[in-house]
Amino acid sequence: MIDIPLVDLRAQHAQVADEVAEGWAGVLERTAFIGGPQVAAFESEFADYQGVAHCVGVANGTDAIELALRALGVGHGDECVLPANTFIATAEAVARSGATPVLVDCVAETGLIDPEKIPAALTDRTRAILPVHLYGQAAPVELVRAAAPGLPIVEDAAQAQGASRSGVPVGGLGEIAATSFYPGKNLGAYGDGGAVLTASADLADAVRLLREHGSPRKYEHPVLGFNSRLDTLQAVVLSAKLRRLEAWNESRRTAATRYTDLLADLPGVLPPEVLDGNTPVWHLYVIRVPDRDRVLASLHEAGIGAGIHYPTPVHLTGAFANLGHAAGDFPVAERIATEILSLPLFPEITEDQQHRVVAALKAAL
Ligand SMILES: Cc1ncc(COP(=O)(O)O)c(C=O)c1O
Repeated sequence: MIDIPLVDLRAQHAQVADEVAEGWAGVLERTAFIGGPQVAAFESEFADYQGVAHCVGVANGTDAIELALRALGVGHGDECVLPANTFIATAEAVARSGATPVLVDCVAETGLIDPEKIPAALTDRTRAILPVHLYGQAAPVELVRAAAPGLPIVEDAAQAQGASRSGVPVGGLGEIAATSFYPGKNLGAYGDGGAVLTASADLADAVRLLREHGSPRKYEHPVLGFNSRLDTLQAVVLSAKLRRLEAWNESRRTAATRYTDLLADLPGVLPPEVLDGNTPVWHLYVIRVPDRDRVLASLHEAGIGAGIHYPTPVHLTGAFANLGHAAGDFPVAERIATEILSLPLFPEITEDQQHRVVAALKAAL
């Protein structure tokens, strides 16, 4: 029985329950479930929060990445560079756009894309670079840009709502960005949801067209599109949660600092490192430990809901066997996949719960 979960959504729901119930009652009353003022309001609030001019709500984070790529004109015959150490969706979205994912290795201390590995991955077919702001901290986008001059940057900001680098919020570090409102995200919906963020009115318009059957007006379809909209009911939840996101992210920072302090005297445990200039939002608190699988099993036995993000780098999944890679191609991503361990972290985690997690970890080691 897990008694300290990896993420506790119940504690979060309790804080917004009344607001959500009231907002949903209004939507149900009007039976207007697609679009409407709630979606437009959330898009505008989230654009302001992320410091970008445009936010386009879509059905999920994977679609958000794909539509961002398609808005840039990426398609068949093109290549896009992304880290081998990410959630599969980053690579899926590239493949679904018709382009070929080209993987590069990551940095062990942060799990983020290694900019030094990018130049060797570039060809005359490269059309975009997708740094992933993994675990809640920004990738070093300025180094990525320097390594791939002139190529558009598509940020995968699914895990980093509210994070910033050198004072600039993620979502505004590249040409276009995608985020996910999967329930466990820092800003999570009550189902699937996602958004595209950009400073460019043209790119935002292109995504708006694609999400709505390629249709600028009813029954006009100048381009082939998708059905990928953010639900009205989800927009109500997201607006209610957005008002609390800064405070929740601050609580995550306090909890992360506490873990790092508590772990300081645990030999063999490597806490996560934060890049200079980053303000992270700790979507996940990922340590590296020896004998990880045994440690994880022991934590589960002790009722601690630790996890692994992610156990298999993209190139070793069956889904991407067609890329023709083998074990050993991305050694850092492969090594850390055997060492990483995500400890329970959510805004409401208590000091006592964190002490119990660390005590269980100590016993396991
Ligand atoms: C890094 C990353 N990219 C993309 C996604 C895809 O988002 P979604 O599940 O909303 O499609 C996720 C989350 O699931 C993610 O963590």
